[in-house]
Amino acid sequence: MDYFNYRDSKLFCEGVDIADIAAQVGTPAYIYSGATLLHHYGAMAEAFAAVDPLICFSVKSLANVHVLKLLAAAGSGFDVVSGGELSRVKAAGGDTTKVVFAGVGKTDQEIVDAIKANIALFNVESEAEFANISRLAAATGIKTRASLRINPDVYDPKTHSYTTTGKAETKFGVDIDRAAAFFAANGRDENVRLDAIHVHLGSPIYSPQPYVDAIGKLLPLIETLRADGLEINTLNLGGGFAADYEAGKSPLAVDYANAIVPLLAGKGLKVIIEPGRQIAANAGILLTKVLYRKAGGEKKFVIVDAAMTDLIRPALYQAEHFIYPVALAQGAEVPQQRFDYEPAGAVRRVDIVGGLCEGSDFLGKDRLLPPVARGDLLAVFSAGAYGFVMSSQYNSRPRAAEVLVEGESFRVIRRRETYDDLYAAELDV
Ligand code: LLP
Repeated sequence: MDYFNYRDSKLFCEGVDIADIAAQVGTPAYIYSGATLLHHYGAMAEAFAAVDPLICFSVKSLANVHVLKLLAAAGSGFDVVSGGELSRVKAAGGDTTKVVFAGVGKTDQEIVDAIKANIALFNVESEAEFANISRLAAATGIKTRASLRINPDVYDPKTHSYTTTGKAETKFGVDIDRAAAFFAANGRDENVRLDAIHVHLGSPIYSPQPYVDAIGKLLPLIETLRADGLEINTLNLGGGFAADYEAGKSPLAVDYANAIVPLLAGKGLKVIIEPGRQIAANAGILLTKVLYRKAGGEKKFVIVDAAMTDLIRPALYQAEHFIYPVALAQGAEVPQQRFDYEPAGAVRRVDIVGGLCEGSDFLGKDRLLPPVARGDLLAVFSAGAYGFVMSSQYNSRPRAAEVLVEGESFRVIRRRETYDDLYAAELDV
């Protein structure tokens, strides 16, 4: 679900004509819909309301300070994986007591900063990391709190191997067989209160079943730990809730909640979830402009001014983002934002590519598009999550602008980078 819709053959974001944004801000640009972000945050909060969840928006998916500010005002906490992300949450005025900090390689400086910021808890990934956090908490004189990230050895067969994290043979978390020994050794630590369990199964997880399977393995463990006199009061289910890249093919927040909530109600557990993609993906498009058309052998190419440097997901994960013109011919059918959509009339099967000298530099392959001409605008949909945040300056390309639409108005929330930005840190030495 999103608030990007065609009106009279023109693509709008909420009440704003996308072509107006292009005219004022230029391309390529990421455009986010505030109402879509808040809709998905609200849908999660409502779906999980029966277990009074702490929703920690995963900052890595869309880290712009102005977006974080919007979500913080709606009550969101934050899932961070670096000191940089914690710093963004602070800059956004986010409540650091609602921050959870994950990641297998936290540095001493990051740990100390987070302890001082009084974060909710560290998602601890190994015995060595726990010992280090305990040492640093003692040195700082501030008691802190942790959950143990457990690897429950479940997974979703549809998740790309690069983003599957809940299987035994990954670097993430501690194997479930080792969890009881971990708690026995560290559950009564003086500097770190260890009273929570964390899992993150992968991203995206296209079915509620892996969460159900994981909970089925964790509840007996929690019973055993409690029987040993340890307090376990929080279960963090991580993120991974799918976004609707292809209309109707992904579960909604309520579908996940209907499977998960009945298993946890009345278990004396505070529930944390860390959604990124489900809140942010559909809330953003990447806007780009057609530079050239060209044929190569049997293939037709549409060369655009965005590239894998702006959106790397197609290159890295063979991810598919629906791509369509911003302006349709008068009276043309409006696409339903799905891949099986076959527009009536003249269409071409094309590869939509960037200008880099890399075979992996494509945004979409073999896509049906109405004829497009130099200067036409294209929207790459569902690009709000893991879009701008994974962009780079490779080929010395300044990064795109980011724009936030709220109702009838829009504002630039990150200016387009300049050539000076490319090498300022090099001249500044
Ligand atoms: N919590 C933890 C511990 C995570 O590692 C992640 C994502 C999340 C929460 C949020 O997952 P989400 O709800 O957004 O699925 N760059 C890849 C995705 C990598 C996800 C890494 N971890 C992509 O573009 O698909």
